[in-house]
This record gives sequence, C-alpha cells and structure tokens, in this order.
Amino acid sequence: MVFGKKRKKAVRGLEGVVAAETALSFVDGQNGKLYYCGYDIDELAGKVCYEEVVHLLWFGELPDQKQLEDFRSELIAEMRLPNQVDELIRLSPPNANPMVVLRTALSALGMYDPDGGKNSEGANLRKAKRVLAQMVTIVSSLYRIRTGQPIVSADKGMNVAANFLYMFNGRTPGKLDRSVFDSVLVLHADHGLAASTFAARATVSTLAGIHSAICAALASLKGPLHGGANTRVMEMIEEIGGKDRVKAYIDGMLASGERIMGFGHRMYKTEDPRSRHLRKYSEKLCRRAGLEHLFEISQRIEEQVRRLKGICPNVDFYSATVQEALGIPKEYFTCIFSMARTAGWIAHVMEQFRDNRLIRPTSNYIGGFDKRFIPLEKRK
Ligand code: ACO
Repeated sequence: MVFGKKRKKAVRGLEGVVAAETALSFVDGQNGKLYYCGYDIDELAGKVCYEEVVHLLWFGELPDQKQLEDFRSELIAEMRLPNQVDELIRLSPPNANPMVVLRTALSALGMYDPDGGKNSEGANLRKAKRVLAQMVTIVSSLYRIRTGQPIVSADKGMNVAANFLYMFNGRTPGKLDRSVFDSVLVLHADHGLAASTFAARATVSTLAGIHSAICAALASLKGPLHGGANTRVMEMIEEIGGKDRVKAYIDGMLASGERIMGFGHRMYKTEDPRSRHLRKYSEKLCRRAGLEHLFEISQRIEEQVRRLKGICPNVDFYSATVQEALGIPKEYFTCIFSMARTAGWIAHVMEQFRDNRLIRPTSNYIGGFDKRFIPLEKRK
C-alpha cells in the first residue's frame, strides 16, 4: 500500500481547523471578546434575560416584549417531565454523577417526546423548546429527590432563571440571586465550536435527532477539560482551604506538571470576557453570603497562575464560587452549565440541519500492512 506523497499531517486537537460556518457566536480570542449573533456579550450581560438570548440564538433577533412573553410562557409550559422520566431520576443511584443522570434522563426523554423521530423544522422547534425546558426540571428534580425534598413545579409567573432557583431550592429567589443567575445562564449560552457543540453538530449531521445531539454534547461537556472544570475548581478551593496556602499549592501543582482547573483556553490569548463578569458577581455574592474567604482564595489563585504561567481564568473559574454562593452544591455546577449551553447547542443543531452535509473527517493511517493472517486455532 502506497500513500500519496502529499499526505497531510493530522492537526492535533483540530486546533485552528475551520469545521463549520456559523452566524451564531464569534469568539475573538485575540481581543478577549465574545459575540452572540453580532452582539458583544458585554452589552448583553446583566441587561437581558436568558430567554432573550435563547430567542436571539434560535431566531436571529432579540424578541420584542410580546414575543418574549409568549416565548417564556411556551418554555415554562414545557417544563413538566413524563412520569416515567421522573421515576427514572428517582431510581438513579444516589452517588451517580448528576451529569450522568442528566444525560440518561435526557436520552430517555427522547423516547417519550411526541415528535420523536421527526426532523421537520416545526418538529425540531417543538422538541427544542421541550429539551431546553425539561433540562431545568431534570436538574432541579434530581437535587430535590436526593435531598429528600418534594419536587417543585414551575411557576408560570417566573422566568427560566428564577424558575430554576425556585424549583431547586423550593423558595422564591431574591432579586440579586435571580439577576446574577440569569447572567450566568446568558454568559454560558454559546461559545463557537466548543468540543460539546462540535459533538452535537457531528451527531445531527447524520440526521440523528435533537435528543441524540444533546446527549452527545452532554457527554462531551462533562469532561474536566471542558465544562467539568467548574466542579474541580470548587474542589481545589476547598482543598486549599485558606488564602495563605494558595502559593504553596499552586507552585506545587505546576512544579509537578498538573493543570490548574479553570485556567487556560484554546481560543483566548487574553482574558476570557465571561470571567470578568463572573469575577464581579463572585465578589458580590461571596460577600453577601459571608464567603469572602472563597473569593479571596480565588483571587490569589488567579494572581499566582498568571504570574507563573501567564494564563488567565476561563468561564469555569469564577462561575464555581458564584454558584457556591448561590447555594448550589458543586456536583451540580456542570449541570447548570449544560442547562445554559442547551440554547447554543440547539441553535447549532438547527443551523446544521438547515445546510447539512455529513461531518466525516479523515485520519492518517499509521498502522502496518501486509500482516500474515493466522487462523484462530493456530494463534499463540
Ligand atoms: N494549567 C496549567 N498549564 C496549562 C493550563 C492549565 N489550566 N492550561 C494550559 N496550560 C499549559 C499547558 O501545560 C501547555 O504548556 P506547555 O506548552 O508548556 O506544555 C500550554 O499551556 C498549552 O496547553 P494545551 O493543552 O496545548 O492547550 P489547549 O488549547 O489544548 O487546552 C484547555 C485548553 C484544555 C482548556 C487547557 O487550558 C486546560 O487543560 N485547562 C484546564 C481545564 C479547564 O479549565 N477547562 C475548561 C476550559 S473552558 C470550557 O471548556 C468551558
């Protein structure tokens, strides 16, 4: 077997490879900017609610007041889970990773969805609304069940962010919590061709449906090099325990070649714009919750990692203490990220469907040839 002389070298981690055209989000890694459909996220964070961004990503424009109210009502109306999925969550092992339960429950929802198996534009939009809404319920129900508390149904008078906090904690969230959590969802809503988004697009490029794509995305997001980093950040802060221990801890980690979770990014050569917002929220919420020490440890970690490695925090770093201060246990952090990113995953899936071609890259074969076949009974 002879290869052509011009065999291309594989691009490790597909760095710099353009694998899709998208009008959804743009990561300007040189200047530390992120745009959703042309809007700088610095313009959106703190000014729009999550549903407005979902509308922007799915329909290409921010909604007017009436469109927003209609869209919100449609989403809240879809939050209920089929009894079978409720039961599946109840039966999940108490120590199973919440991301595994979320992925499994979402996969099960595909079996009960009235539009399951249909891929028309109308069916996809109905499924999209259900998936986005039901993710909120899966995460909050799982927490309620595991903590021995009754499941709380969505309140039609609240938006998606407030409903999550309400269904999770069982009480109406205060103004600051609502607005910060809404911003957290907004800041996580989309991010170009992240590993999970690529997984979703590759999955639907085979004409598999939305539920399959979101399961693939969830599987990818779970990993600690992607969305799973936020839980690891909180574990690290707890392990450090006090701001005076930061230097020794970070120096030791880096000296032994370990990665510091919540730092570095394939795209950003400068600060991740999302972390600027999250740092601010973290400081505010930690102070209010009497958790200043967590914010101080975080700041010291940031200073030390910047000093020694010259790398900046990514979205997962300060989102950890923001969620901690909101009373969300760390094992649920990546689920919150998933709920938010479902907006982007679905937008990408719909974009892929509109101009689909099977995503099927190639590989360089580096194995051998001309091996002599030995029948099973003669192999040693
Ligand atoms: N801690 C220590 N060193 C780091 C870190 C880190 N967090 N991130 C990158 N580096 C170093 C690497 O060791 C490497 O150094 P070297 O060239 O001396 O070997 C260099 O920076 C480049 O690293 P790569 O792994 O090639 O960068 P890549 O673009 O492939 O990785 C990634 C990006 C996976 C995010 C990486 O920065 C990392 O592992 N971060 C920690 C995990 C994390 O926070 N993930 C969440 C990312 S954001 C998100 O997905 C939502």
